[in-house]
Amino acid sequence: MTDIVAQMPAVEVRGLSHTFGRGASGTEVMRNVSLSVRKGSFVSIVGPSGCGKSTLLNFVLGLDLPTAGTVLHEGKPVTATQGKMGLVPQDDRLMPWSTAFDNVALPLKIRNWEPARIRSAVRDVLHKVRLDGFESHYPHQLSGGMRKRLAIARTLVYESEVLLMDEPFGNIDAQTRMDLQRELLDLWELSRPTVIFITHDLTEAIALSDEIVVMSRRPSYCVARIEVPIERPRDPSRIQLADGFKECYAEVWSAMQRGMVTA
Ligand SMILES: Nc1ncnc2c1ncn2[C@@H]1O[C@H](COP(=O)(O)OP(=O)(O)OP(=O)(O)O)[C@@H](O)[C@H]1O
Ligand SMILES: [Mg+2]
Repeated sequence: MTDIVAQMPAVEVRGLSHTFGRGASGTEVMRNVSLSVRKGSFVSIVGPSGCGKSTLLNFVLGLDLPTAGTVLHEGKPVTATQGKMGLVPQDDRLMPWSTAFDNVALPLKIRNWEPARIRSAVRDVLHKVRLDGFESHYPHQLSGGMRKRLAIARTLVYESEVLLMDEPFGNIDAQTRMDLQRELLDLWELSRPTVIFITHDLTEAIALSDEIVVMSRRPSYCVARIEVPIERPRDPSRIQLADGFKECYAEVWSAMQRGMVTA
Protein backbone atom coordinates (compact mmCIF):
# COMPACT_ATOMS: atom_id res chain seq x y z
CA MET A 1 0.00 0.00 0.00
CA THR A 2 2.75 2.43 1.02
CA ASP A 3 4.64 1.78 -2.20
CA ILE A 4 1.64 2.29 -4.48
CA VAL A 5 0.75 5.77 -3.25
CA ALA A 6 4.16 7.00 -2.24
CA GLN A 7 5.83 7.52 -5.61
CA MET A 8 5.25 11.13 -6.58
CA PRO A 9 6.26 14.18 -4.49
CA ALA A 10 3.15 15.93 -3.24
CA VAL A 11 5.08 18.85 -1.85
CA GLU A 12 8.48 20.09 -2.88
CA VAL A 13 10.30 22.88 -1.14
CA ARG A 14 13.21 24.17 -3.21
CA GLY A 15 15.96 26.37 -1.87
CA LEU A 16 13.88 28.33 0.64
CA SER A 17 15.67 31.15 2.37
CA HIS A 18 13.98 33.73 4.49
CA THR A 19 14.85 36.78 6.51
CA PHE A 20 12.26 38.68 8.53
CA GLY A 21 12.93 42.44 8.44
CA ARG A 22 15.91 44.15 6.87
CA GLY A 23 19.44 45.20 7.65
CA ALA A 24 21.07 44.73 11.02
CA SER A 25 17.73 44.19 12.77
CA GLY A 26 16.66 41.45 10.30
CA THR A 27 16.25 37.86 11.49
CA GLU A 28 17.58 35.25 9.07
CA VAL A 29 15.33 32.29 9.74
CA MET A 30 16.24 29.74 7.08
CA ARG A 31 18.96 29.27 4.54
CA ASN A 32 18.48 27.08 1.49
CA VAL A 33 15.96 24.60 2.89
CA SER A 34 14.92 21.91 0.41
CA LEU A 35 12.52 19.12 1.09
CA SER A 36 10.49 16.68 -0.93
CA VAL A 37 7.46 14.94 0.54
CA ARG A 38 6.08 11.88 -1.25
CA LYS A 39 2.36 11.75 -1.92
CA GLY A 40 0.53 9.87 0.81
CA SER A 41 3.50 9.81 3.14
CA PHE A 42 3.68 10.97 6.74
CA VAL A 43 6.68 13.20 7.36
CA SER A 44 7.60 14.82 10.64
CA ILE A 45 9.79 17.86 11.06
CA VAL A 46 11.75 18.30 14.27
CA GLY A 47 14.12 21.08 15.20
CA PRO A 48 14.87 23.57 17.96
CA SER A 49 12.33 26.17 19.01
CA GLY A 50 12.54 29.26 16.81
CA CYS A 51 14.26 27.49 13.89
CA GLY A 52 11.40 28.33 11.53
CA LYS A 53 9.14 25.27 11.46
CA SER A 54 5.88 27.23 11.66
CA THR A 55 7.26 29.77 9.20
CA LEU A 56 8.04 26.93 6.78
CA LEU A 57 4.43 25.68 7.01
CA ASN A 58 3.20 29.17 6.17
CA PHE A 59 5.30 29.09 3.00
CA VAL A 60 4.04 25.61 2.10
CA LEU A 61 0.46 26.84 2.53
CA GLY A 62 1.16 29.91 0.45
CA LEU A 63 0.16 32.21 3.30
CA ASP A 64 3.48 33.99 3.12
CA LEU A 65 6.25 34.38 0.55
CA PRO A 66 9.86 33.47 1.29
CA THR A 67 12.74 35.81 0.46
CA ALA A 68 14.01 33.18 -1.99
CA GLY A 69 13.00 29.75 -3.21
CA THR A 70 9.80 28.06 -4.25
CA VAL A 71 7.21 25.61 -2.99
CA LEU A 72 5.54 23.23 -5.42
CA HIS A 73 2.34 21.29 -4.82
CA GLU A 74 1.98 18.43 -7.30
CA GLY A 75 4.54 20.17 -9.48
CA LYS A 76 2.84 23.59 -9.51
CA PRO A 77 4.11 26.64 -7.64
CA VAL A 78 2.11 27.50 -4.55
CA THR A 79 1.32 31.18 -4.69
CA ALA A 80 -1.79 31.61 -2.58
CA THR A 81 -4.07 29.49 -0.43
CA GLN A 82 -5.58 27.05 -2.88
CA GLY A 83 -7.77 24.91 -0.70
CA LYS A 84 -5.98 21.62 -1.22
CA MET A 85 -3.92 21.96 1.90
CA GLY A 86 -5.21 22.22 5.43
CA LEU A 87 -3.42 23.50 8.51
CA VAL A 88 -3.96 22.40 12.08
CA PRO A 89 -2.26 25.39 13.70
CA GLN A 90 0.02 25.42 16.73
CA ASP A 91 -2.74 26.99 18.84
CA ASP A 92 -6.00 25.34 17.76
CA ARG A 93 -7.63 28.68 16.82
CA LEU A 94 -11.15 27.43 17.38
CA MET A 95 -13.79 30.15 17.51
CA PRO A 96 -14.94 30.29 21.15
CA TRP A 97 -18.30 31.82 20.27
CA SER A 98 -19.23 29.04 17.83
CA THR A 99 -20.38 25.49 18.49
CA ALA A 100 -18.35 22.46 17.49
CA PHE A 101 -20.62 22.08 14.46
CA ASP A 102 -20.16 25.70 13.36
CA ASN A 103 -16.41 25.59 13.89
CA VAL A 104 -16.14 22.66 11.52
CA ALA A 105 -18.74 24.04 9.08
CA LEU A 106 -16.96 27.38 8.62
CA PRO A 107 -14.38 26.31 6.00
CA LEU A 108 -17.22 24.71 3.99
CA LYS A 109 -19.38 27.85 4.19
CA ILE A 110 -16.38 29.83 2.96
CA ARG A 111 -16.20 27.40 0.04
CA ASN A 112 -19.91 27.97 -0.66
CA TRP A 113 -21.05 24.41 -0.08
CA GLU A 114 -24.83 23.75 0.01
CA PRO A 115 -26.26 23.61 3.59
CA ALA A 116 -27.37 19.96 3.26
CA ARG A 117 -23.93 18.91 2.03
CA ILE A 118 -22.33 20.86 4.88
CA ARG A 119 -24.56 19.12 7.46
CA SER A 120 -23.72 15.70 6.18
CA ALA A 121 -19.96 16.37 5.83
CA VAL A 122 -19.73 17.87 9.33
CA ARG A 123 -21.63 14.98 10.95
CA ASP A 124 -19.45 12.52 9.11
CA VAL A 125 -16.18 14.10 10.15
CA LEU A 126 -17.30 14.62 13.77
CA HIS A 127 -18.07 10.91 13.84
CA LYS A 128 -14.58 10.12 12.49
CA VAL A 129 -12.95 12.05 15.33
CA ARG A 130 -15.34 10.55 17.91
CA LEU A 131 -17.20 13.77 18.67
CA ASP A 132 -20.72 12.63 17.78
CA GLY A 133 -23.17 14.11 20.23
CA PHE A 134 -21.01 17.19 20.84
CA GLU A 135 -22.19 19.22 17.83
CA SER A 136 -23.79 21.92 19.98
CA HIS A 137 -21.01 22.19 22.52
CA TYR A 138 -18.81 25.27 22.59
CA PRO A 139 -15.01 24.83 22.68
CA HIS A 140 -14.83 25.73 26.40
CA GLN A 141 -17.22 22.85 27.13
CA LEU A 142 -14.79 20.34 25.60
CA SER A 143 -11.65 18.79 27.08
CA GLY A 144 -8.20 19.67 25.68
CA GLY A 145 -8.07 16.40 23.72
CA MET A 146 -11.56 16.96 22.31
CA ARG A 147 -10.61 20.46 21.18
CA LYS A 148 -7.58 19.03 19.37
CA ARG A 149 -9.85 16.48 17.66
CA LEU A 150 -12.22 19.29 16.69
CA ALA A 151 -9.34 21.29 15.19
CA ILE A 152 -8.31 18.21 13.19
CA ALA A 153 -11.94 17.67 12.08
CA ARG A 154 -12.10 21.26 10.82
CA THR A 155 -9.12 20.57 8.57
CA LEU A 156 -10.19 17.05 7.52
CA VAL A 157 -13.70 18.15 6.57
CA TYR A 158 -12.74 19.75 3.28
CA GLU A 159 -10.80 16.69 2.24
CA SER A 160 -7.38 18.27 2.12
CA GLU A 161 -4.86 16.37 0.08
CA VAL A 162 -2.09 17.71 2.29
CA LEU A 163 -2.44 18.06 6.05
CA LEU A 164 -0.02 20.39 7.78
CA MET A 165 -0.01 19.86 11.52
CA ASP A 166 1.92 22.26 13.73
CA GLU A 167 2.56 20.60 17.09
CA PRO A 168 -1.11 19.61 17.27
CA PHE A 169 -0.70 17.59 20.46
CA GLY A 170 1.42 20.03 22.47
CA ASN A 171 0.16 20.73 26.01
CA ILE A 172 -1.83 17.52 26.18
CA ASP A 173 -1.39 14.90 28.91
CA ALA A 174 0.58 11.79 27.95
CA GLN A 175 -2.39 9.39 27.94
CA THR A 176 -4.65 11.61 25.81
CA ARG A 177 -1.74 12.37 23.52
CA MET A 178 -1.21 8.68 22.83
CA ASP A 179 -4.93 8.23 22.15
CA LEU A 180 -4.82 11.15 19.71
CA GLN A 181 -1.76 9.71 17.97
CA ARG A 182 -3.52 6.38 17.53
CA GLU A 183 -6.65 8.10 16.18
CA LEU A 184 -4.58 10.21 13.82
CA LEU A 185 -2.90 7.09 12.41
CA ASP A 186 -6.33 5.48 11.95
CA LEU A 187 -7.63 8.57 10.14
CA TRP A 188 -4.52 8.75 7.99
CA GLU A 189 -4.94 5.10 6.95
CA LEU A 190 -8.53 5.84 5.84
CA SER A 191 -7.70 8.28 3.05
CA ARG A 192 -3.90 8.55 3.11
CA PRO A 193 -3.46 12.32 2.84
CA THR A 194 0.11 13.58 2.69
CA VAL A 195 0.97 14.76 6.20
CA ILE A 196 3.66 17.19 7.32
CA PHE A 197 3.70 17.05 11.08
CA ILE A 198 5.75 19.27 13.38
CA THR A 199 6.65 18.07 16.83
CA HIS A 200 9.28 18.45 19.53
CA ASP A 201 8.65 14.92 20.73
CA LEU A 202 11.01 12.46 19.01
CA THR A 203 9.07 9.41 20.22
CA GLU A 204 5.89 10.88 18.71
CA ALA A 205 7.73 11.57 15.43
CA ILE A 206 8.93 7.96 15.28
CA ALA A 207 5.52 6.53 16.21
CA LEU A 208 3.74 8.40 13.42
CA SER A 209 6.11 8.98 10.54
CA ASP A 210 7.58 7.34 7.48
CA GLU A 211 10.39 9.88 7.54
CA ILE A 212 11.74 12.47 9.95
CA VAL A 213 13.34 15.68 8.77
CA VAL A 214 15.70 17.27 11.26
CA MET A 215 16.20 21.02 11.00
CA SER A 216 19.10 22.93 12.51
CA ARG A 217 18.98 25.96 14.73
CA ARG A 218 18.46 29.32 13.04
CA PRO A 219 19.32 30.08 10.25
CA SER A 220 18.01 26.63 9.64
CA TYR A 221 18.80 24.03 7.02
CA CYS A 222 17.85 20.34 6.78
CA VAL A 223 20.44 18.46 8.79
CA ALA A 224 19.15 14.98 8.00
CA ARG A 225 16.30 12.99 6.62
CA ILE A 226 15.77 9.75 8.44
CA GLU A 227 13.52 6.87 7.36
CA VAL A 228 11.64 5.23 10.22
CA PRO A 229 12.27 1.51 9.80
CA ILE A 230 9.29 0.35 11.88
CA GLU A 231 6.45 -1.63 10.29
CA ARG A 232 2.86 -0.47 10.26
CA PRO A 233 0.34 -0.75 11.78
CA ARG A 234 2.01 0.77 14.81
CA ASP A 235 0.84 1.10 18.36
CA PRO A 236 2.07 4.47 19.71
CA SER A 237 1.82 3.21 23.30
CA ARG A 238 4.31 0.40 22.55
CA ILE A 239 6.48 2.09 19.97
CA GLN A 240 9.51 2.19 22.26
CA LEU A 241 9.48 -1.63 22.29
CA ALA A 242 9.42 -1.92 18.49
CA ASP A 243 12.42 -3.31 16.62
CA GLY A 244 14.49 -0.44 15.31
CA PHE A 245 13.10 2.20 17.70
CA LYS A 246 16.28 2.71 19.74
CA GLU A 247 18.54 3.00 16.72
CA CYS A 248 16.14 5.40 15.01
CA TYR A 249 15.87 7.55 18.13
CA ALA A 250 19.66 7.68 18.45
CA GLU A 251 20.02 8.69 14.79
CA VAL A 252 17.48 11.51 15.11
CA TRP A 253 18.99 12.68 18.38
CA SER A 254 22.48 12.74 16.93
CA ALA A 255 21.25 14.77 13.90
CA MET A 256 19.61 17.23 16.30
CA GLN A 257 22.92 17.65 18.14
CA ARG A 258 24.71 18.31 14.83
CA GLY A 259 22.06 20.90 14.02
CA MET A 260 22.72 22.77 17.25
CA VAL A 261 26.23 23.61 16.11
CA THR A 262 26.10 26.96 14.32
CA ALA A 263 26.76 26.63 10.61
N1 LIG B 1 6.12 37.64 11.41
C1 LIG B 1 7.37 37.60 11.93
N2 LIG B 1 8.13 38.71 12.01
C2 LIG B 1 9.38 38.65 12.51
N3 LIG B 1 9.96 37.56 12.98
C3 LIG B 1 9.24 36.42 12.95
C4 LIG B 1 7.90 36.38 12.44
N4 LIG B 1 7.43 35.10 12.54
C5 LIG B 1 8.43 34.39 13.10
N5 LIG B 1 9.50 35.17 13.34
C6 LIG B 1 10.80 34.73 13.90
O1 LIG B 1 11.25 33.68 13.08
C7 LIG B 1 11.83 32.65 13.85
C8 LIG B 1 11.15 31.35 13.57
O2 LIG B 1 9.81 31.36 14.10
P1 LIG B 1 8.87 30.09 14.00
O3 LIG B 1 7.62 30.42 14.70
O4 LIG B 1 8.76 29.67 12.58
O5 LIG B 1 9.73 29.01 14.81
P2 LIG B 1 9.34 27.52 15.21
O6 LIG B 1 10.44 26.65 14.72
O7 LIG B 1 7.97 27.21 14.76
O8 LIG B 1 9.42 27.59 16.81
P3 LIG B 1 8.55 26.75 17.90
O9 LIG B 1 9.14 25.37 17.91
O10 LIG B 1 8.86 27.48 19.16
O11 LIG B 1 7.11 26.80 17.51
C9 LIG B 1 11.73 33.11 15.32
O12 LIG B 1 12.94 33.69 15.67
C10 LIG B 1 10.63 34.14 15.29
O13 LIG B 1 10.84 35.11 16.26
MG1 LIG C 1 6.20 26.82 15.73
